[in-house]
Amino acid sequence: MSDVQAQAPSATDTTVRRLGDHVGQRVRLKGWLYHRRSKGKIRFLLVRDGTGLVQAVATPRDVPAETFALCDTIPQEASIVVEGTVRADARAPGGFELTVAAVEVVSRPSQEYPIAIAEDVPNVDFLLERRHLWMRSRKPWAVLRVRSEVEHAIHEFYHERGFTRLDAPILTPAACEGTTTLFEIDYFDEGKAYLTQSGQLYSEAGCMAFGKVYTFGPVFRAERSKTRRHLTEFWMVEPEVAFATLDDIMALAEDFVSTVIRRVLERCRVELEELERDTSKLEKIAPPFPRISYSEAVELLRSKGHAFEWGGDLGAPDETALSEHFDRPVMVHRYPKGVKAFYMKRDPLDPRVALCVDVLAPEGVGEIIGGSQREDDLAVLEAGIEEHGLPRQAFEWYLDLRRFGSVPHGGFGLGVERLVAWICGREHVRECIPFPRMLYRIYP
Ligand code: 4AD
Ligand code: MG
Repeated sequence: MSDVQAQAPSATDTTVRRLGDHVGQRVRLKGWLYHRRSKGKIRFLLVRDGTGLVQAVATPRDVPAETFALCDTIPQEASIVVEGTVRADARAPGGFELTVAAVEVVSRPSQEYPIAIAEDVPNVDFLLERRHLWMRSRKPWAVLRVRSEVEHAIHEFYHERGFTRLDAPILTPAACEGTTTLFEIDYFDEGKAYLTQSGQLYSEAGCMAFGKVYTFGPVFRAERSKTRRHLTEFWMVEPEVAFATLDDIMALAEDFVSTVIRRVLERCRVELEELERDTSKLEKIAPPFPRISYSEAVELLRSKGHAFEWGGDLGAPDETALSEHFDRPVMVHRYPKGVKAFYMKRDPLDPRVALCVDVLAPEGVGEIIGGSQREDDLAVLEAGIEEHGLPRQAFEWYLDLRRFGSVPHGGFGLGVERLVAWICGREHVRECIPFPRMLYRIYP
């Protein structure tokens, strides 16, 4: 045995999340100092490493005098490497503690860290301005971990069911969801191009080639709304299925939402605990979801004292009232044709309405999914494009999908941030994306 090995017991590199595999062993953690306090002859270092937080405890008995003194000088968010022995402790958050043997400071902050530990201060603008740092704090960290797991579960869900992932373009020649929310850019000699509002038209092309597809990517809406549900850039997942009817789409939606939530509950216990989320409400989420028609929704709203005229779109307060009525998501189908997009198929049994569905999440969250069966008749679709004042030329390729082997088909779009906001119990979608883009925010 060499001298070096004889002197220091060798430590295993690990992460906070895996401490349970190393109880009684010496480990090395690489991370940052989240918080520090002392009590008598004990120094407590709260260390974060990206996978979680652990309390490292230093006493003069276990560490050399210089190390003990060093513990008193490490500033918040200094990067550090800590070695120590893992102890199981039921009272410790996460169930483990580290008895410190050695500490190394990798880099000391050049100035005081601007975000205090109690990061849930009411000044959210201050925090959003420092989003690049704020995401290190416990709750934002937990939300973005859940988001990552939501995305993972989304991809798993569709791959397990034989869907092909199809990436839709971000630069597009025309509107998909109405012309009032388009971000316009100059596109060389081709004239105007627009940031995509939805990958749907492209996923429709895809489902005719692959049967079942989904797109997953950022979409853009130049919406001048400052609500807690709106971003100008958000992420959408959009499945599209050939030969599917509205009923098939609704069955897919309830299976999808329930499966993703179940997997996040299984895999994000630590994060949801950190967010103090009442998970019993999420554990109830399972098919079948209640299904009501728009007309029934209008009746329900009236019975709750809302003055609502048949024919208008549901506003946020209406959606909130409806979603609070049920303990699981409610699927509102068959809205008036007039308030919905040009591509939705008219209900052959009631020409006033479209074969569409919005899924409204409970706890006042509101719409998380919008979808429909698509118009598959060439002539009807041509008339719809004309009626909505859309540039026919930009849609010629889309009309080809009805010229060559048209079939009934449908799909939906789910806004990732709204789903994450619901799962995490966050009020505002701006906390549910790493770097939110809103009417008054494009920095950092
Ligand atoms: O209801 P929307 O506009 O539907 C579509 O775009 C369809 N083309 C989807 C499809 O059928 N393939 O948007 C779908 C979802 C909404 O239910 C909502 O969750 C989310 O996208 N969403 C937004 N999320 C954050 N900020 C915004 N401004 C959003 N607009 C829509
Ligand atoms: Mg919608």
